[in-house]
Amino acid sequence: MKPFPPAALAFGGDYNPEQWPESTWTEDVELMREAGVTLVTLGVFSWAWLEPTEGEYDFDWLDRVIDLLHGAGISVDLATATASPPPWFSRAYPDSLPETADGRTMWPGSRQAYCPSSPDYRRAATALVERIAERYGEHPAVVLWHVNNEYGCHVSHCWCDRSAVEFRRWLRDRYGSLDRLNEAWGTAFWSQRYGDWEEVLPPRLTPSFGNPTQALDFDRFSSDELLACYRAERDVLLRHSPDVPVTTNLMVAKFKGLDYWSWAPELDVVSNDHYLRGEDPLGHVDLALAADLTRSLAGGDPWLLMESSTSAVNWQPRNIAKVPGQLRRNTFAHVARGSEGAMFFQWRASAAGAEKFHAGMVPHAGTDSRVWREVCLLGADLGRVAEIRGSVVQPDVALLWDWQSWWAVEQQAHPTGDLDYIEQVRSYHAALWRLGLTTDLARPSADLSRYRFVAVPSLYLVSDASAENLGSFVAGGGTLLVGPFSGIVDESLRIRLGGYPGAFRDLLGVRVEEFSPLPASGSVRLSDGKVGRIWSEHAHLTGAESLASYSSGPLAGSPALTRRSVGDGQAWYLGTCLDDASLQALLREVTTVAGCRPPVPAHDGVEVVRRDGAEASYLFVLNHTADPAVVPARGRELLGEADVDGALTVPPGGVAVVREHR
Ligand code: GAL
Repeated sequence: MKPFPPAALAFGGDYNPEQWPESTWTEDVELMREAGVTLVTLGVFSWAWLEPTEGEYDFDWLDRVIDLLHGAGISVDLATATASPPPWFSRAYPDSLPETADGRTMWPGSRQAYCPSSPDYRRAATALVERIAERYGEHPAVVLWHVNNEYGCHVSHCWCDRSAVEFRRWLRDRYGSLDRLNEAWGTAFWSQRYGDWEEVLPPRLTPSFGNPTQALDFDRFSSDELLACYRAERDVLLRHSPDVPVTTNLMVAKFKGLDYWSWAPELDVVSNDHYLRGEDPLGHVDLALAADLTRSLAGGDPWLLMESSTSAVNWQPRNIAKVPGQLRRNTFAHVARGSEGAMFFQWRASAAGAEKFHAGMVPHAGTDSRVWREVCLLGADLGRVAEIRGSVVQPDVALLWDWQSWWAVEQQAHPTGDLDYIEQVRSYHAALWRLGLTTDLARPSADLSRYRFVAVPSLYLVSDASAENLGSFVAGGGTLLVGPFSGIVDESLRIRLGGYPGAFRDLLGVRVEEFSPLPASGSVRLSDGKVGRIWSEHAHLTGAESLASYSSGPLAGSPALTRRSVGDGQAWYLGTCLDDASLQALLREVTTVAGCRPPVPAHDGVEVVRRDGAEASYLFVLNHTADPAVVPARGRELLGEADVDGALTVPPGGVAVVREHR
């Protein structure tokens, strides 16, 4: 990984000077210094300003802004400005506008109105990047390149004719021949057999259910198409400034559109945008999942929170302001889980445009405001913990996470519509969070040998190789827990016949003959008192022991929770989705057996995460409760600058970072 950040923890935000008169820029930079800003993201939506008409560029204003920032010692994450093509572009190249599955055009007037497969877009975007990279590639203020912005946020798939051409090219590469495509897509069904490549289309609006494998391949293709856009820009940047790291801001964990496992290795710095759902009382647990997944995408290396909000956003049904202290807690939660600082959208709240009600670091009210004061405190706090840079989080627990299986499991015409991928993973992650265990997210093919415990909340689609990988993990002494409706299909969505859970049948020692999803809001009691939701199934033991069976309903007596010992390892299977309390009880039991321990014994609502560095380790304590929390610790508390000798008291809603005595 190219070293980043170069000097201090990153602190700052998207800076859009083109929205303000030049007189404001000087004040901006003064205020940035006051707040301790170290980095700003510049130019994300500046295409129309940088290239006001095709082929005519104006960089004077950007020169002045960058020099101003540089003079104040503020580094720049310079954007390639390609996320929002200007009106002249859409007018000149109307074929570049994206189309929906039912053939409607998405027009300019907002942002991101381009088809990822449009050759005109690709050409115009890389031409702009060429100019930017030529001009600023060696500017000492530019420490990071920011390609585009949130790829796929609004247009992750495009169904236009140009996309159809590229989809066919992608399919030819994947399958080589139409025969193999017909086989993989199961086109013997419903008379769908293709006789000519030109007959193959993106999965547009159809009278009834479309072909599932066509839809899955289109998801794969769409992720690859946007990745090709990223690569094209990244390659230009690399030519001009091979030493400046490149990133693009991801939208982990809720964004379904892109397979970030294939994206992450292409980024020098993995960066993420995270926004709380203001009305979610468990938003901080959701935040932890996003941060854990981002760290995992970075392969455990430090990463960067590229965007979050100082207070309310503007795009939720009700945009709830953060309460005093929440900004600090939220920020330190990301930092605890590996972020090398915190960036915000945006520096100054806009006075016009669709996001004018989105909070900024400088709010509409100006500096005589709670938000500004908290921003300044945060800048100072991040300065106090700068020594944590480069330290890493090393969990011994992992949850499997897979975008392709997510796409596949939520297709239509399945046994139930109630199996929500994110909800499944989130319920496991939240239960582990409550147990005080920090969790990695791992792709199914990852080397799992460093983990004691791996859970698979949902893995409907699995390749033979990944199924074997899980088997090796157990054979090597690991403890595995597999959730329902996993191992069911191969990469072409073909059912693994002979009984469920197909790919994991032998490993788990269980054979399921029939699924029996529960009615809406239904539940089923297990013989050990746990409560199942959403799913049940008729299972037989073929090598496992039953730990709990269904105690009521038509499946009474059928195993619901099983365990099979394999050498020193164990393969557990859960045939239902447990309610929160039951899942927490199960995970407590399994992780204890597996020997996983939290950094300090778990307290309700007190989040404790450790980052390990070369010189020291750091204990982050975030008190989400309304009472003081006392946590065992020894060392130096960096925020309050006090020694801790055995017991650390963190006030309600407070944060502490302890450099631990080894
Ligand atoms: C992000 C985006 C920003 C801004 C922000 C508002 O998705 O990258 O440009 O729109 O949301 O929350």
